[in-house]
Amino acid sequence: MPTLFDPFPLRGLTLKNRIALSPMCQYSSEDGFATDWHLAHLGARAVGGVGLILTEATGVEARGRITPNCLGIWKDEHIPGLRKVTDFLRARGAASGIQLAHAGVKASRQRPWNSHPNAFVPVAEGGWMPVGPSALRFGEDGPVPESLSIEAIHAVRESFAAAARRAVEAGFDLVELHFAHGYLGHSFLSPLMNTRTDAYGGPFDHRVSFLRETVKAVREAIPSSMPLLVRLSCSDWADGGWTIDDSVEVARLLARDGVDLIDCSSGGASRAAKIAAAPGYQVPFAERIRRDAGVPTGAVGMITEAKQADDIVRHGQADLVLLGRELLRDPYWPLRAWTSLSASPPAPIAKEYAWALAETKR
Ligand SMILES: Cc1cc2nc3c(=O)[nH]c(=O)nc-3n(C[C@H](O)[C@H](O)[C@H](O)COP(=O)(O)O)c2cc1C
Repeated sequence: MPTLFDPFPLRGLTLKNRIALSPMCQYSSEDGFATDWHLAHLGARAVGGVGLILTEATGVEARGRITPNCLGIWKDEHIPGLRKVTDFLRARGAASGIQLAHAGVKASRQRPWNSHPNAFVPVAEGGWMPVGPSALRFGEDGPVPESLSIEAIHAVRESFAAAARRAVEAGFDLVELHFAHGYLGHSFLSPLMNTRTDAYGGPFDHRVSFLRETVKAVREAIPSSMPLLVRLSCSDWADGGWTIDDSVEVARLLARDGVDLIDCSSGGASRAAKIAAAPGYQVPFAERIRRDAGVPTGAVGMITEAKQADDIVRHGQADLVLLGRELLRDPYWPLRAWTSLSASPPAPIAKEYAWALAETKR
C-alpha cells in the first residue's frame, strides 16, 4: 500500500504526494476576479509542500456565487488572474485544481465577517435571486428560490462546460465539480431539496441526471488526459435524505462517465441534520465508496495529524487526504508531517527553504 508521501497517478497527471488543500472560500474577490490574496494563500500552501492545491468554490455563473466576493470563472476576463496563480503553483511542483461551483439556493449571502454573516443580500444591495431545482427556501431566511426550467438547467450545465474550458486555458491541471454541501449540484441529488417530478427529480435516476450530464459536458470540454473529480455530500445525515448507499451507486455510474476520484464530504442539505463530527468522521464514506464502487477517493474532515493521514492512505481507506482548516493553521503541515513520519522520499519543501534549513542545521 502507498504512503502519504508516495506519488499518486491520476489519469494523465501524477501528484507528487497524497496531500491536498481542500477547497475553502476566501471571500476576497470583486466581480469574481482572482487577486494577490489568492496567489499568496494558495501559493503558500504549494511552497509548504502540498501536492494538490484546490481553489475555493469558483462560480460558473455570476449568480452561482455564495457571496458577491466569491471567486468566479464565468467570463474570459477571469482567465489571466487565475493563470498567474496556476503558473506559480506549477513552478513550485504542486498540481492545481479548480473547484467549479454553483451556489444555487445558498447564493447571494453576506461574507462571514460582515455584521450579518450569511444573511441574504437583497437585489437592491448588489445581491440576486437564487435558483434551485425546486422553489424551496433553505432554512428560515432568504427568499424562495426560482425553480429552474428544463432549458435553464441545460444552460447551467453548459456554464459548467464553458467554465471548464476556461479553466484549461487558465492552466489548471484538473477540475473538481462541487456537488456537495447543499449547493446547486447537491440540491438536485437530495430528495430534501429536490421535489421536481420531471426528468430531473423524483427517482434516483432522475435526481442524478443533472450530475451525470454535467460530468459528460465537462469531460468533453477538457483534455482526455485531465483528471475530473466530483465532491459529493456522501450523506445528508437526515431522515429521507441522500445516503451513503446512494453515493456508492452514483459513484459507480460516475466512474463509467469518466470521473477519476470522488472527494467524500457530507451534509449541507438540511439544517436538521445530525452530524456526528469527530476526527476523521467522513473517512468511512471514502473507504466504502473506494471499496464498493471501485473508484479512487479523497478523505476530508477533521484530519489534522500526520499519522492519521498516513494511516488513511496506508490502510486503503482513501487515495488522497484533503486538509482544510489545518492547512490554514499551518501552510507547512506537509513538511512537519514528513519530519514526524520520517518519510523517505525527498522533503516536500521548496528548494529556497530547504537550502536555508540545511544551512542553519535546523
Ligand atoms: C473557510 C472555509 C471555507 C470553505 N469553503 C469550501 C468551498 O469553497 N468548497 C467546498 O467544497 N468546501 C468548502 N469548505 C469545506 C472544506 O473544504 C472542508 O471540507 C471542511 O473544512 C472539513 O475539512 P477540515 O476539517 O480539514 O477543515 C470550507 C471550509 C472552510 C473552513
